[in-house]
Amino acid sequence: MTINTFPENFLWGGAIAANQTEGAWNIDGRGLSNIDLIPHGPDRQSIKLGYKKAKMSDNEYYPSHTGIDFYHRYKEDIALLAEMGLKVFRTSISWSRIYPNGDETIPNQAGIDYYTDLFKTCKAHNMELLVTLAHFDIPMGIVEQYNGWKHRATIDLYVKFAETCFECFGDYVNYWIPFNEINVVLHSPFSGGGLYFDDTENREEILYQAAHYMLVASASAVESCHRITPKAKIGCMIAGGSFYPYSCNPEDVWQSMNDERTNTFFVDVQAKGKYPYYMDAFFKSKGIHVDISEKDKDILKQTVDFVAFSYYASRTSIADISRVEKNEGNIIVSAKNPYLKMSDWGWVIDPLGLRITMNQIYERFEKPLFVVENGLGAKDVIEADGTIQDDYRIDYMEQHFQAMYDGIQDGVPLLGYISWGVIDLVSASTGEMSKRYGMIFVDKDDTGDGTLARKKKKSFDWYKQVIQQNGVEI
Ligand code: BG6
Repeated sequence: MTINTFPENFLWGGAIAANQTEGAWNIDGRGLSNIDLIPHGPDRQSIKLGYKKAKMSDNEYYPSHTGIDFYHRYKEDIALLAEMGLKVFRTSISWSRIYPNGDETIPNQAGIDYYTDLFKTCKAHNMELLVTLAHFDIPMGIVEQYNGWKHRATIDLYVKFAETCFECFGDYVNYWIPFNEINVVLHSPFSGGGLYFDDTENREEILYQAAHYMLVASASAVESCHRITPKAKIGCMIAGGSFYPYSCNPEDVWQSMNDERTNTFFVDVQAKGKYPYYMDAFFKSKGIHVDISEKDKDILKQTVDFVAFSYYASRTSIADISRVEKNEGNIIVSAKNPYLKMSDWGWVIDPLGLRITMNQIYERFEKPLFVVENGLGAKDVIEADGTIQDDYRIDYMEQHFQAMYDGIQDGVPLLGYISWGVIDLVSASTGEMSKRYGMIFVDKDDTGDGTLARKKKKSFDWYKQVIQQNGVEI
């Protein structure tokens, strides 16, 4: 047996996010957040995408209100993750726990105390922290007053929140990410940016304007982080996954290049400090006007220390998508790739795509990379003897680890790998619990029933061993 060993100090980790786990949506002073208004039912997609205005209703079930009750169970959960041997834990901070309405001058002390204790608990277990400031999360106060990231005023409110976090949690956190999957605002505007639209508005213009304000806010956060907590590193993050041309028809190749740019332009700005040359032509071709001031351009010069991405799937681009079957899994619609299998939720499974994505991103930006999300959403079954034999998950992860190892051999500097939903949590796309990523099972179903008890799956011990030996067996 040979072991493909990863670099010394490679950060093996597990991720969750506040909006999908904490619950406790209305206690200890927490304000209402956009996630609290996204129901599980049939309206979920139209609300997430900003087509339908969210209103709280007694007839709906809102999975985030209870999550997996991480807010009350974090000590037990962190102890389990420590037993698994995690070197790094990724979570996010609920913005409305710190600034309930978004525009207060003084933060909510109960929120600060909660995260201080959570982070201290992780440190006591020798875990590094990678913290996302906003993971599909914005106070409804800001949504109502400014339509979320549509308005420039949101930048200052975000920077105040970011600076509070750097000041209060800087002693514990060594890795920060300003926004989870910043590019997702283009695809899921209400969950990604608190945006609503009415029929008379130019949707695309608003999306790119919001993206711009988020980019300025992110660059300001980079400056604040470097100033307030200089020992920490701060990165950017996109929902990654390369776009393959469907065929060698140059039209498809050109389409794939343009599709790729809608993702990587975010990193171009955050890692290179300015808008890339092709965006001007793009805005002109679409008739989009984006308010970009000279001061903004100056702020954008603050560049990140590393580039993080989630990787679940590659995409496939074709000039005329009406000619082929579509793949609508995983937010960004593309053509169905005939060479690849899919998960039960239609997400393409492409381990080699991880090596390809790593190489393409590094070639373009030459900054250390961090895989901060990856995993398989699958239905788990509890066997008669009480065990959960999730070999499909182990197989998925093993193949991705091999691809990641190969990418490192190619010369790509990779800081670590963080497995998504290391403990079962609410699915961001569907609101289900039955779409499980975890190596720790949580007893809760899609309607909110269950004891919330935690249970190790077979993958728990397998991942523990990978971490212990710092590599995968081949
Ligand atoms: C990423 C998000 O896009 O994918 C997570 O950052 C999300 O919040 C994850 O949960 C998996 O997606 P889903 O829809 O299966 O939960």
